[in-house]
Amino acid sequence: LKLVVLISGGGSNLRSLLEASEDAEFPARVVAIGADRDADGLAHAEEFGIPSFVVPYTSYPDRESWGDALLEQIRLWEPDLVILSGLMRLLPERVVEALSPQLINTHPAYLPEFPGAHGVRDALAAGVTETGASVIVVDTGVDSGPIISRQRVAILPNDTESTLHDRIKLVERELLVQAVLDIANGTIDLKELAS
Ligand code: GRF
Repeated sequence: LKLVVLISGGGSNLRSLLEASEDAEFPARVVAIGADRDADGLAHAEEFGIPSFVVPYTSYPDRESWGDALLEQIRLWEPDLVILSGLMRLLPERVVEALSPQLINTHPAYLPEFPGAHGVRDALAAGVTETGASVIVVDTGVDSGPIISRQRVAILPNDTESTLHDRIKLVERELLVQAVLDIANGTIDLKELAS
């Protein structure tokens, strides 16, 4: 299974995929890594010798033209699956439509709880004792697509946004690697899930 992974930040979940694909048995490989900015996580591409591309959001007059340029770059690699792993931009509808359902996203909350760009902060602010991590099929909404997998993560009394997010990320990357495995071996059928 050929993967293109899109990031905006440190790419810790991406790194877990790269490490998993080091195992010859792993039925997927990251063929390219893309970002909407000069993301720190591009260093993982360098380290693992994976091609990368940057389509800077700020270089485009609007989201649509950025999305078109991003889609063009993604298509060059003919991926079987595109993974948003810390991409902090909403994709334009036509990009989602073009890639769906072979387009999945990781989210640091127990969807449909706490969607959006501040899921960790929102869970903390809500004063609940548990949140979670999720992998979903991307649809044109915000973190509203069909859920592939999700797992609860405890919120501890003295958690800060970063201690909680770090704990969530550990679960996210397990869910993500498992989701890629399940998609590669047919346990998960994205077309069926998204239908
Ligand atoms: C992850 O928790 C992802 O779900 C969220 O932002 C975080 C990115 O972390 N959208 P990293 O860049 O993978 O370290």
